[in-house]
Amino acid sequence: MNYKVIGKSDMKVSEVGFGAWQAGRKGWGSDYDDESIIEAIRRSVDAGLNYIDTAETYGDGHSEEVVGRAISSIPREDIIIATKVKPPHFTHDAVIKSANESMRRLGVKYIDHYQLHWPDTSVPVKETLSAMEELVDQGKVRYIGVCNYNAEELENMISLMKRHEIVSDQVKYNIIDHDPENGLMQFLASRRMTLVAWSPIAKGLLSGKYTAENLPKDDIRSRDRLFTKQALAKIHPLLDYLRKVAALRGKTMSQVSLNYLLCMGAEVIPGAKNAAQALENIGASGWRLNGTEISEIKKLATSSDLSEA
Ligand SMILES: NC(=O)c1ccc[n+]([C@@H]2O[C@H](COP(=O)([O-])OP(=O)(O)OC[C@H]3O[C@@H](n4cnc5c(N)ncnc54)[C@H](OP(=O)(O)O)[C@@H]3O)[C@@H](O)[C@H]2O)c1
Repeated sequence: MNYKVIGKSDMKVSEVGFGAWQAGRKGWGSDYDDESIIEAIRRSVDAGLNYIDTAETYGDGHSEEVVGRAISSIPREDIIIATKVKPPHFTHDAVIKSANESMRRLGVKYIDHYQLHWPDTSVPVKETLSAMEELVDQGKVRYIGVCNYNAEELENMISLMKRHEIVSDQVKYNIIDHDPENGLMQFLASRRMTLVAWSPIAKGLLSGKYTAENLPKDDIRSRDRLFTKQALAKIHPLLDYLRKVAALRGKTMSQVSLNYLLCMGAEVIPGAKNAAQALENIGASGWRLNGTEISEIKKLATSSDLSEA
């Protein structure tokens, strides 16, 4: 496993982290349970993974509870926990309350990486950031991150920070949804902030296991524009190429898809429902696609552009 430092922090994280939205057990079907998630996290940690991403909103706190159970027997300093506060909890008092409740559910005395889940214009961002800084001052949070903010919003937020820095922006980024490559990634690099990629295997689509006849029926993906016959037809050449590279390299399509994002400098946090998926995803680390493969993936991704679909 390779490790990288998040932004201007001392968090040295495994470049493949663990996405725990699925641990909330809402919207992702019923082909797994809390125990399979706990096993997935523990075996991932045994394999070198140390970064877990959850949120108060995943399963209304259930994900944080399951993550808390999974890490209860692991020394606290061996794990880097990222969680998130969501609107409408962006007022000063609500941020503090959310952080305390997340810590209780996770069974920890501090959160390593506390993130604003998405932009909210109903509360002045200055107030929200001041509460986040207060949490750092109190030792309840080590570092501040955000999710789903664009460069302009970040520029403004950076100017409002008084004593601490924003170290990361977590955004949707995968081979198909590659919009962060058009400016955001460059902006974050110029500020020494880390891009954390969510939905890095396009909710399972880039694993190659879904076809027009075999689409997932859970809530999350039945509403997703990618999980349609039309989208699958459009990305067919891209999936074919990923399959070919995977076969040549003795990797899986998920591993190739995650590796592409690692080559672009992102931290990836694939979601997993069981240990087999999680361990496969960890196999995306420790090697790199070559320049020709990267260019061909970029070319096929651009020509099958679904960003407006
Ligand atoms: N900040 C935000 O706004 C935000 C938004 C979304 C997600 N996130 C975070 O990002 C994480 C990842 O994003 P995501 O869950 O949307 O998408 P993802 O990681 O691209 O896809 C996860 C899904 O893909 C399938 N899968 C995973 N590994 C696989 C493998 N090796 N082979 C085959 N299938 C595999 C599993 O579903 P099936 O087995 O059912 O196919 C799994 O539930 C989340 O868990 C969460 O922590 C953050």
